[in-house]
Amino acid sequence: MEFLLLLLVSGLPQVWGRYEVPPENFTFRVLQISSFVNSSWMRTDCLGWLGELQTHRWNNDSDTILCLLPWCHGGLSEQQWQKLQRVFQVYRISFKRDVQEILKMLRKDYPVELQISAGCEVDPRGSSESFLHIASEGVDILSFQGTLWEPAPEAPPWVHMVTRVLNLDEGTKETVQSLLNDTCPQFVRGLIEVGKSDLEKQEKPKAWLSSGPSPGPGRLLLVCHVSGFYPKPVWVMWMRGKQEQLDTQRGDVLPNADKTWYLRVTLDVAASEMAGLSCRVKHSSLGDQDIVLYWADESHVSVGLIILAVLVPLLLLVAGFYLWFKRHWTSSAQDVR
Ligand SMILES: *[C@@H]1O[C@H](CO)[C@@H](O)[C@H](O)[C@H]1NC(C)=O
Ligand SMILES: *[C@@H]1O[C@H](CO)[C@@H](O)[C@H](O)[C@H]1NC(C)=O
Ligand SMILES: *[C@@H]1O[C@H](CO)[C@@H](O)[C@H](O)[C@H]1NC(C)=O
Ligand SMILES: *[C@@H]1O[C@H](CO)[C@@H](O)[C@H](O)[C@H]1NC(C)=O
Repeated sequence: MEFLLLLLVSGLPQVWGRYEVPPENFTFRVLQISSFVNSSWMRTDCLGWLGELQTHRWNNDSDTILCLLPWCHGGLSEQQWQKLQRVFQVYRISFKRDVQEILKMLRKDYPVELQISAGCEVDPRGSSESFLHIASEGVDILSFQGTLWEPAPEAPPWVHMVTRVLNLDEGTKETVQSLLNDTCPQFVRGLIEVGKSDLEKQEKPKAWLSSGPSPGPGRLLLVCHVSGFYPKPVWVMWMRGKQEQLDTQRGDVLPNADKTWYLRVTLDVAASEMAGLSCRVKHSSLGDQDIVLYWADESHVSVGLIILAVLVPLLLLVAGFYLWFKRHWTSSAQDVR
């Protein structure tokens, strides 16, 4: 009973400190990269992502959109998927033609590189928001806002001209609205439902420590590696006791080849201040069981070894005495009888 109580009490702080993952929005994003190298050479490639998972790819050389996950058609029937694909096939042809015409009209120099990011963010509770942004050489120039094309705030004058031309095309604006307002959120809801098991996948992180190149005389760079986790949100912090070390430096979360993630978190400390440092990892796959790794520097190890070296012979000695005493006592007790 007392043991149970103790367990409960010691378990409580961990329950309170539990790492809650907020209910997640899903963003479906299509990225299009188009390079117009000269008047006769161009290519367009597209990628589709649902959150951190790549779902689709469409190379310039292919007529069909490639599925990268078995559930990438979402809830669409084969017929509905073919219809959607045709819309994009027509779009790709007209995009190439229109851009080439516009470049000719504006007498703009090649090469021109265009990036388009379009899609929608769907709230599991039902609402959604769509977006379509166009950038040139990585700088935003144009976006679709509600019912109209709008130039980006810093866009050059030629973009304003293009925007006026685009806004005259009612047919295209209607298609864009229907794709953004209706098709995208419906498609994403279908994807979320069919891909549930992949999207809710949980992979536990592994963590290990190492030391990096010394940042300066008398200083050490402690490195905490966390790898193999999924999904992407993770909390990693260097701690001294219960104190978060605020100068912890967090790297970028990088992809592993097996669709899990890797993160490196470092701390620059004076060599004399390493006692009691640990790296703490919280992740949804771990529940309340945070990973805590203590920094055991050489001096700690040798102190441990010294204690071990003194303690073990001492214990053996005590045990030997005890056995000898016990046998002696028993035999002398027998002698008495
Ligand atoms: C266009 O660019 C491609 C690829 O760089 C090149 O092979 C081709 O000769 C160029 N064509 C013209 C007309 O400049
Ligand atoms: C890309 O596709 C277009 C249209 O299908 C084609 O005209 C063009 O030559 C292709 N570009 C390359 C580099 O293969
Ligand atoms: C989730 O998406 C909705 C609209 O789709 C948006 O209003 C809301 O701010 C988003 N929530 C988060 C946490 O991003
Ligand atoms: C699409 O959504 C925007 C708001 O995001 C709205 O202004 C517009 O009227 C909608 N268009 C259609 C056809 O539903």
